[in-house]
Amino acid sequence: MADELAHEPNAMEIPVIDIRGERVALGPLHRGLLPLLERWENDFRTVDLGGGDPRPRTAEMIAATWEPLLRGEREDWLGFAIYALPDVRPIGVANIRDFTNPHGTAEFGITIGDAADRGKGYGTEAVRLLLDYAFSALGVYNLWLDTPAYNAAAIRACEKAGFREIGRRRGARLLAGTRYDVVLMDCTGTADDFVPLPRRALPSERGELDGERSNAVAMRGDRCL
Ligand SMILES: CC(C)(COP(=O)(O)OP(=O)(O)OC[C@H]1O[C@@H](n2cnc3c(N)ncnc32)[C@H](O)[C@@H]1OP(=O)(O)O)[C@@H](O)C(=O)NCCC(=O)NCCS
Repeated sequence: MADELAHEPNAMEIPVIDIRGERVALGPLHRGLLPLLERWENDFRTVDLGGGDPRPRTAEMIAATWEPLLRGEREDWLGFAIYALPDVRPIGVANIRDFTNPHGTAEFGITIGDAADRGKGYGTEAVRLLLDYAFSALGVYNLWLDTPAYNAAAIRACEKAGFREIGRRRGARLLAGTRYDVVLMDCTGTADDFVPLPRRALPSERGELDGERSNAVAMRGDRCL
């Protein structure tokens, strides 16, 4: 019993959560994630799938990139840590950026950092929660992303969440000497594209809506928040 209590996490050790889904939760980024980010951003396959260029990245480079973002110094960039439930284990990061424009557009990025955590549905649910947040809390109308055509998991996870392909930049990605298309996808906040999860990103004035009603409202295009 004493041992069990000794391992009980105290409030400071439990990550802060903003949005809780069924299998994943989203919370604010924090410095404690920097060692994980250093590992993920040195995994060349992950970096490449995310559209970046594989380079060795030191802890100092990681900190220099992330510290200004953690301090909220870029007004048009907003990030979340992604946690697997129920143990609230950090598995990835996501961001919505360039959302402070009069047109209601924004760009989207997501990484589930460790390959062992992919293909388990975490990414799809996280994308759906982030879309809901972008549409309902940020007032975004059109969210877009691009990804290499060989990133089938990203294309599929984003399609399942409501994104659709809108075009391609032909041959715009060079990987190990071969050129690949870059796929452009977008998703609007209309019911044609996006059906929110039963558990919404923001609490409703009327309290928790049950899934049936929440989806029915969304299908009518009548946002319930
Ligand atoms: C893209 C990413 C966020 C998706 O998250 P995830 O948790 O792996 O995705 P999910 O498990 O929710 O769903 C993946 C879907 O893609 C499918 N998929 C996975 N790998 C696939 C492959 N090689 N070919 C075809 N489909 C594939 C899965 O079967 C699943 O679809 P299904 O439910 O219809 O079977 C994650 O894989 C990742 O972070 N990858 C590395 C970085 C990256 O690509 N970032 C995205 C930049 S836009």
